[in-house]
Amino acid sequence: MSQGNLLYAQSGGVTAVINATACAVIQTCRRRKVGVFAARNGIIGALREELFDLSGLEAAGTAALRHTPGGAFGSCRFKLKSLDADRAHYERLIAVLRAHDIRHFLYNGGNDSADTSLKIAQIARALRFPLNVIGVPKTVDNDLPVTDSCPGFGSVAKYTAVSVLEASLDVAAMHESSTKVFVMEVMGRHAGWIAAAAGLAGKRADDPPHVILFPEIAFDEAAFLARVKATVERVGWCTVVVSEGVKNADGRFLAEAGTTDAFGHAQLGGVGPFIAQLVKTRLGYKFHWAVPDYLQRSARHIASKVDAEQAFAVGKAAVEYALAGRNGVMPAIKRVSSTPFKWKLVPVPLTTIANVEKKLPRSYITADGFGITPAARRYFEPLIRGEDTPPYNAKSGLPEYATLKLKLARKKLPAYRIADK
Ligand code: F6P
Repeated sequence: MSQGNLLYAQSGGVTAVINATACAVIQTCRRRKVGVFAARNGIIGALREELFDLSGLEAAGTAALRHTPGGAFGSCRFKLKSLDADRAHYERLIAVLRAHDIRHFLYNGGNDSADTSLKIAQIARALRFPLNVIGVPKTVDNDLPVTDSCPGFGSVAKYTAVSVLEASLDVAAMHESSTKVFVMEVMGRHAGWIAAAAGLAGKRADDPPHVILFPEIAFDEAAFLARVKATVERVGWCTVVVSEGVKNADGRFLAEAGTTDAFGHAQLGGVGPFIAQLVKTRLGYKFHWAVPDYLQRSARHIASKVDAEQAFAVGKAAVEYALAGRNGVMPAIKRVSSTPFKWKLVPVPLTTIANVEKKLPRSYITADGFGITPAARRYFEPLIRGEDTPPYNAKSGLPEYATLKLKLARKKLPAYRIADK
């Protein structure tokens, strides 16, 4: 039996380095002489039989993916339900894979995508279709269990810590006669990993950020305002980092945009301006706020070198796992030591990953709930080390990002309609 082709798909929120994973997948397939396809917009493209044939993709464009943010083939938020509820989708998926002789499926995403990968592995087994399904980790939220960190996180962490440091220098310069409080909102739906990484910006007492609001700690308005007031009185100004996932004592998000995605996740955003307005109304301080939103997860210009290396490594390992006949696993990052920082990849079953969210441990948050501990610092620091600056064009002054000429493979099956999400 031939080793068949490999299909790679991106899923969920993209990151500054997910394309480094794609680059590794394509280059490793080429080296191993395996035909490689990418699904357009994740599982949606797989169902529609919209598969980019990457066999002829030029080497320079493929290499440039390593330093290009976004998701080169399109991503999706699309939930495959249980085998019973979505039988037609599963059968269609297997028909598409069969039609293109695809024996290896790599799904690059977070917790939800690990769940989808697992279901695909299960259905393939049930339908007796030989398929190796490998989950490939990615999420800026850093909330996958088992793995030490998630590719994408180190870069958003670096962007966040650097931005807090730089913006705080601005506030420090302005505070005497202008701005007293700067509020920055960061992503991380239910887990405070990104918010905590902001804490790396400060080393000594009274360094910014002075207050971090984590999803893991219920928002206490009185304690928060007291902390801001005391900081402004003592330091002259105050930098606040607030996670989009902060909840009140009743467990309700402080800021929900009112929409949900296919997985039922509430769309968040807007807690930054909310917090800033609260400070103004209750304490009277002049403020500025920032919601970097997509800027933080696409900031490839300030990517962490460690993160880019890990993103590349998981892509390469995923191909190797599939070709070795592994199924239903994910390459997880195992920290061997923090000082010096050493890590390796190990295969872990998707059953241990799917639908589990890893929260920030309480031991990483100071007793007062507003800062990070030395243990947190030991964990985070290695992940933001090193720069992996993309090449810049001397004339335009802009990064040289990949612009791929993608070609869809000829369809072999009748059209299939799915509800767009
Ligand atoms: O993928 C994780 C994440 O970046 C979250 O932190 C954020 O809340 C969410 O994605 C935004 O998702 P979308 O781009 O689908 O609105």
